[in-house]
Amino acid sequence: MSLFPLLLAALPTVSSWAVNTSLTERALTSAISSGCPANSPTSCGSTTSSNTCCFESPGGLLLQTQFWDATPVSTGPNNSWTIHGLWPDNCDGTFSENCDSSRDYTGISTLLTNQGAASTLSFMNTFWKNLPSDGTDESLWEHEWATHGTCYSTLKTSCLPSGSSKGAEAVAFFETTVKLFQTLPTFDWLSAAGIVPSSSTTYTLSALQAAVRAKWGFTPAFQCSGSTLNGVFYYFNLKGSVIDGTFVPINAATASTCSSTGIKYAPKTTGSSGGGGGGSTGTLPAKATLVASSVGGILSLGTWSTQTLATFTISGTVDSFTMTSSKGNCGVASGTFACGSGVSLTSFSAVSSGGKLLLASGGSTSWTSDATPSGSTVQTVFTGSGHAQDYTLAITST
Ligand SMILES: *[C@@H]1O[C@H](CO)[C@@H](O)[C@H](O)[C@H]1NC(C)=O
Ligand SMILES: *[C@@H]1O[C@H](CO)[C@@H](O)[C@H](O)[C@H]1NC(C)=O
Repeated sequence: MSLFPLLLAALPTVSSWAVNTSLTERALTSAISSGCPANSPTSCGSTTSSNTCCFESPGGLLLQTQFWDATPVSTGPNNSWTIHGLWPDNCDGTFSENCDSSRDYTGISTLLTNQGAASTLSFMNTFWKNLPSDGTDESLWEHEWATHGTCYSTLKTSCLPSGSSKGAEAVAFFETTVKLFQTLPTFDWLSAAGIVPSSSTTYTLSALQAAVRAKWGFTPAFQCSGSTLNGVFYYFNLKGSVIDGTFVPINAATASTCSSTGIKYAPKTTGSSGGGGGGSTGTLPAKATLVASSVGGILSLGTWSTQTLATFTISGTVDSFTMTSSKGNCGVASGTFACGSGVSLTSFSAVSSGGKLLLASGGSTSWTSDATPSGSTVQTVFTGSGHAQDYTLAITST
């Protein structure tokens, strides 16, 4: 336990993470680049190009869509809207969906982790949330990619640099969507105009629109269900590729679905704060996967693998909790981590680092194995760093 303050002191604080995210991302995404010229024509503009790797077509009207999920069930931090997706509409407002089922990737978390986008994943775990009644966050991400992501001309596999990993274009889609969302802080923009969630006050559509226009310069399309505000669509054209092009803001091409007065902006009941975009990491999820810092993560028997990760049930607090998997109790005995019917529960703690919650045993977040797992070959997980491969394990809400 005496190790604990030492570890905390040595680790970056959560609040410094948001600022560092984009710096990190820039370095990581440089692995894949579109190669499109800086003066590529703008989608839906009068200058067209037949090079659809650098000219988004036909879906040249891009919508960064956000949710405000407050009632009856809240998702995400109480001081931030959350990501719905990044959709390619045609320039006339019609659209295509589900354009290439051969690229309907599953296991987005693993894909991002394996291709150097763990910090994007970590942001998504806080800010790209599904309604629990609709499924896991992972299922929303898979849906957004399959339904909308596969329709981008600039993300076709044939547009990628040769030798790109399978799914690299989906990784770029998630990284771009997260980066664009980070430039559109709806909660803060409304709040700056005095528009805050309330169970008594209602707002007018023109006030909402003016609040965003004052910060962003253009008018988005607010979405309501009945009189309750539940979303917003920001419209863009794109110069170049979704991978690394420039998003050009424009006024909404569709009308808002909210009525002009009496709009309810309900408070979230989650009670967790996003810390100004830094991610909410103080709360322990009840169900989580354990994602390794290098590749893959943990299976239900407690082994390290690159296969589909197990979901662990967690009970307790960040300072002391126990975990079970579908195979049974999880615990550390003689320096070896395992889960199963013959395993005794031991207590773990969680340490915040870089916007993540890391699994710790005896106060240490270090885990180690003899080799990196691959295919169906799994590795035994030991505490400490006495074996060939060292890593940390991020407790990632499912
Ligand atoms: C990045 O994070 C570190 C802590 O890890 C902090 O000291 C530094 O100031 C941050 N950089 C910026 C540009 O904020
Ligand atoms: C979010 O929740 C925290 C903790 O309950 C609370 O202190 C804060 O006022 C809430 N913020 C908003 C905007 O509701």
